[in-house]
Amino acid sequence: MAHSEHKTPLEARKSQALTGHMRVPGDKSISHRALILGALSVGETRIAGLLEGEDVLNTAKSMRALGAKVEREGEGSWSVHGTGVGGFAEPAAPLDFGNSGTGCRLVMGAVAGCPITAIFDGDASLRSRPMKRVLDPLELMGAKAVSSAEGVRLPLTLAGARNPLPIVYRTPVPSAQIKSAVLLAGLSAPGTTTVIEAEASRDHTELMLRHFGADVRVTAEGAHGRKIELKGQPELSGAKVVVPADPSSAAFPLVGALIVPGSDLVLTDVMTNPLRTGLIATLREMGARIDEVNARGDAGEPMADLRVRGSKLRGVEVPPERAPSMIDEYLILAVAAAYAEGTTVMRGLQELRVKESDRLAATADMLRVNGVTVEISGDDLIVEGRGHVPGGGLVATHMDHRIAMSALMMGLAADSAVKVDDTAFIATSFPGFTEMMRGLGAELA
Ligand code: S3P
Repeated sequence: MAHSEHKTPLEARKSQALTGHMRVPGDKSISHRALILGALSVGETRIAGLLEGEDVLNTAKSMRALGAKVEREGEGSWSVHGTGVGGFAEPAAPLDFGNSGTGCRLVMGAVAGCPITAIFDGDASLRSRPMKRVLDPLELMGAKAVSSAEGVRLPLTLAGARNPLPIVYRTPVPSAQIKSAVLLAGLSAPGTTTVIEAEASRDHTELMLRHFGADVRVTAEGAHGRKIELKGQPELSGAKVVVPADPSSAAFPLVGALIVPGSDLVLTDVMTNPLRTGLIATLREMGARIDEVNARGDAGEPMADLRVRGSKLRGVEVPPERAPSMIDEYLILAVAAAYAEGTTVMRGLQELRVKESDRLAATADMLRVNGVTVEISGDDLIVEGRGHVPGGGLVATHMDHRIAMSALMMGLAADSAVKVDDTAFIATSFPGFTEMMRGLGAELA
């Protein structure tokens, strides 16, 4: 989705305690997958609590362009009538994924298993991100990608395989997007498609494939890894999906409440899949008061309400093997680390360089312009916590929603206000963010 040239800046000021209840929007990863698996199924899929952010809406549009019937029936309530596995129709126009790497790469996998050709495109941020990591395995399966952009970037044309081959693939980096693309293409292949990952990444695709009727076997691989085997050419049947609240969005009010003294906040329905909760584990090690209440589950995904109270934090060392379970949360963890007493060392952050922006550099800049001492050493980020943040800086968003939200949370307890240059991209993942935060007491103007 195009954003206007006109930027929408916002300033966050020192706030009173954040209090109340909040249900952040639906999980982005699950929302993309529910639409895509619904579109690859026979019969009706009903989705409740779908995230209606721009990233997911672009995936919904692409599913329509590929022949599925996708209808919005009410707030967060969607119905999908799919084409069946391998049944996508050739789209009449390029598929535009806007800012979303997940939407783009997962749909590449789904298209790679169909005998059609589609053009993939996105905004300037997505056009700068690597696609070879997904296209390499898809080409082994028989798809063909042609890109005129330097370094295999968008826009590119993908011709799906006429007779997709099942492969055994070891992901070169821990990435749920690569794994999911291979599994979605593998749906059309005869025999078993296998993905082996040295470090387990979020497993929503595997869980949801089972929920839609596929035969998926998951076994341990080494100390931290997994082997996923998918039996090809299943008949997927439409299913009901209830989307829990997104832990990666909950991370912002959660850290906001930790750093603003006296806060007492309940975040409801937050997904607590262990492959997404690295931030909570780390914050608890730092001394955060976070209580899980009312734990429950739906469609294989656990969830709970989280009670968060203002807390004194201390610096910790975050091991590299924790990165896949909190890959989108380092920006906001760095904010918590700046308010902690002592040094926080976050190791093994190389994947942050290829997100919506170079988040390793952007995190360091965000802290530095607000008076926090920070260092990048190889792939590690080191933050010197002093228990308070001077603030007063202007943070550049770089078309990255999570930079904007992290910087605004930092401003809620800083000595001087923190300003971000553009909040427009927040709508890619967290529509209503500013109003919801104001409702808890955040001073955003
Ligand atoms: C996602 C996987 C992660 C994450 C992204 C969502 C997914 O990316 O950063 O926000 O839904 O599969 P990688 O797989 O590239 O690490």
